[in-house]
Amino acid sequence: MNDWWRTGVIYQIYPRSFQDSNGDGVGDLEGVRQRLDYLTGLGIDAVWLSPFYPSPQADFGYDVSDYCDVDPMFGTLEDFDRLLDDLHDRGMKLIIDWVPNHTSDQHPWFVESRSSRDNPKRDWYVWGDPKRDGSPPNNWQSQFGGVAWQWDEQTSQYYLHSFLAAQPDLNWRNPQVESAMLDTLRFWLDRGVDGFRMDVVAFIMKDPDLRDDPEPPTDEHPRSREHDDVHTAFRRIGAVLDEYEPARFSIGEIYEPDWLRWASYYGRNLDELTMPFNFTLLHAPWNARVFRNLVDSCDAAVPVGAWPNYVLGNHDEIRLSTRYGRGAARSAGMLLLTLRGTPTLYYGDELGIPQVDIPPKEQQDPWGRRVLGMGRDGCRTPMEWDSSPNAGFTAGEPWLAVAGGWQARNVDSQDEASSLAFYRRMLRLRRESPALTVGEYRSLDAPQGCFVFVRSTTGERLAVAINFELENRPLDLSGEVLLSTGMDRAGYVEHLELRPNEGIILRLQVASVGEE
Ligand code: NOJ
Repeated sequence: MNDWWRTGVIYQIYPRSFQDSNGDGVGDLEGVRQRLDYLTGLGIDAVWLSPFYPSPQADFGYDVSDYCDVDPMFGTLEDFDRLLDDLHDRGMKLIIDWVPNHTSDQHPWFVESRSSRDNPKRDWYVWGDPKRDGSPPNNWQSQFGGVAWQWDEQTSQYYLHSFLAAQPDLNWRNPQVESAMLDTLRFWLDRGVDGFRMDVVAFIMKDPDLRDDPEPPTDEHPRSREHDDVHTAFRRIGAVLDEYEPARFSIGEIYEPDWLRWASYYGRNLDELTMPFNFTLLHAPWNARVFRNLVDSCDAAVPVGAWPNYVLGNHDEIRLSTRYGRGAARSAGMLLLTLRGTPTLYYGDELGIPQVDIPPKEQQDPWGRRVLGMGRDGCRTPMEWDSSPNAGFTAGEPWLAVAGGWQARNVDSQDEASSLAFYRRMLRLRRESPALTVGEYRSLDAPQGCFVFVRSTTGERLAVAINFELENRPLDLSGEVLLSTGMDRAGYVEHLELRPNEGIILRLQVASVGEE
């Protein structure tokens, strides 16, 4: 039960956007290292680094051309080792992104694979013959729009790409691919990393007969991903993480709305992923009943002995502060950090960085350039550190402009009533509270529009109450205020009125709970 990831908070860093140390306008590993004091002061436990591997950057690093190195844009392996050592010296963990479903089309494996039909690596990727009319082998669609097959002139076959044509899908049914990919895990584990965030990991197994997806397209278990034998692959991945002591951590990027299927990815014997990401709240409307149902369902679905997790932001989604609006953003943060489960906090959400509307012509994100409205640059703007030009992110020209309003929002300028101060207090409270970290969860019946739950251990009982409405709501609980989103309440309260969108954490008398 001492696993760090049960009590810990994961902080996602998008390396391009965190801190540039060499003036080229793009963040780098040394930049992250220079900001470790900030992370220690914030009170997070683990850093997740989005990809920093050598890459043509067609999908900003999710197109990997070498799994065992660092792109010069982000630094060197020595920079990586230094960052890892410094994080460990400060008691923090490092998890890195692993992109198993596809490589870059510039990866030497693919260069070989496409060179001829009889190349030994031909079968490392998913190749298919055209139909009689010349069209692709089936109707599978790319996540980034359009057909998922690219015609290869030289060898007269199509190859599969679930994302960009520059991201060909690996053929995980080929044992050599599996073994080469598992070795890439060992490469980083041997260097000392504490775990992996696994990119679209359930995509690695597709229908072996490449049968069509249902028409019209649906998100319900299409054949182009999540084929059942993905569990076998996950067990092999889990076994590699178990080769290390203590066993290393994995969190898989799987958008799976069906709770039973979602929970199956922990493995029947908890031998697959440490946890599949739980993205349900991210896409839910800000509604107390909906949130309560989702959290109750998640808590009930998690297998015995496994651990839940929650996420309200990442490099693909609308920024938290824009999704919920200024009024509700802190309450959303309070929820994230008080529910039973590992929270993943996206860099800059603690400052309240908003989503930025980037005009189509200035879109850098390949998805945004292909499909109007799908651009993800808006949540990837630079971290805001101080009042110097470009918010202290770079001495050069930033790859993406800093979000407007940063002068008043940056780390240095945030005062005692600010969003950052709130997150620091919230994280400290969480760290010091057994109930908030490892305690049980139980939701309570509450006034319409409020979500109220208790986290408890034998010695500590805390209630968290969130008002989702724009009107006051009475709260029939009494206890000592530990934190409120406005940071303006303290002491013992009884029959409190929750203000619009207010969130509050109360210490309840141990004996007084449970009878509601
Ligand atoms: C999911 C990642 O989060 C996203 O940023 C990326 O574009 C796709 N996977 C493809 O790797």
